[in-house]
Amino acid sequence: MTFELRNITRRFGDRVAVNSVNVEIPQGQMVGVIGRSGAGKSTLLRMINRLQEPSSGSMHFGDIEVSSLKGASLRNWQRDCAMIFQQFNLVPRLDVLTNVMLGRLNHRSTVLSLLNIFSDDERLAAIAALERLGIEQTALQRAGTLSGGQQQRVAIARALMQAPKMLLADEPIASLDPLNAKIVMDALRDINEREGITVVTNLHTLDTARSYCERIIGMAHGNVVFDGTPAELTAAAVQEIYGSDRDGAGIDETMTSTSINIPAAQVAAGTQSGGISTLASASA
Ligand SMILES: Nc1ncnc2c1ncn2[C@@H]1O[C@H](COP(=O)(O)OP(=O)(O)OP(=O)(O)O)[C@@H](O)[C@H]1O
Ligand SMILES: [Mg+2]
Repeated sequence: MTFELRNITRRFGDRVAVNSVNVEIPQGQMVGVIGRSGAGKSTLLRMINRLQEPSSGSMHFGDIEVSSLKGASLRNWQRDCAMIFQQFNLVPRLDVLTNVMLGRLNHRSTVLSLLNIFSDDERLAAIAALERLGIEQTALQRAGTLSGGQQQRVAIARALMQAPKMLLADEPIASLDPLNAKIVMDALRDINEREGITVVTNLHTLDTARSYCERIIGMAHGNVVFDGTPAELTAAAVQEIYGSDRDGAGIDETMTSTSINIPAAQVAAGTQSGGISTLASASA
């Protein structure tokens, strides 16, 4: 089903964070949202799953008017579009398996979840999700003891437990080193390709958006100033998104680079020590 934003605007006081955005996203697309700090990327993403309310405009998923959902149907929508954050948002004291199972517990009490009341089916599904991300060996470790890359994969496994239709990721690799950034982006791509889950991810690095996303949406000052394929993202379009520096010189694309292009040998080495064999073979 197609997700659609119609004239979506969000104001904070007299500041317009997102300005009358119109975007249609077909099911199964992998979309990167880029733009300078303050361009409105996070606000746009947070409105999609109603963490933030639009000031005006409407959002639609097939025949459902997402922007007017309330109560249980709103919670269902929020389960349908799982969110991943830069800072992972795990519960550090709890073990990895419990963190993943929390994906199922959006609507149960915290007490129940802290008492560790899960069914065998939920446990099996959580282990399968961890295997899917290649980190099943961490299941009984406290989440806080994992590396950043492992924690982000736990967060993705938790999101998968929601059986989402859309995966929304707000700068999922901004806190990671290049190798872990690659592992996490590969995981998102793999989920997008194999499960057909729509992925919309904010990225502050242009090269990552170019290499992973079939569609790039560029924002500047709350406006969508570019919407197209990586091939269509010309130097002039990049200029419009990021603007020029104070001297009026053009922006150099390497300024927004993370050097995510890790040599294959290094990734293979990571496979042995980090247990990412599932992903490495799936994306090979
Ligand atoms: N809760 C809020 N209250 C007031 N202003 C806000 C709030 N959230 C965002 N803004 C403002 O809205 C604009 C867009 O912010 P947003 O966080 O969406 O940008 P962004 O593109 O995600 O930036 P970054 O790359 O730094 O994460 C900014 O001017 C910001 O200051
Ligand atoms: Mg942001």
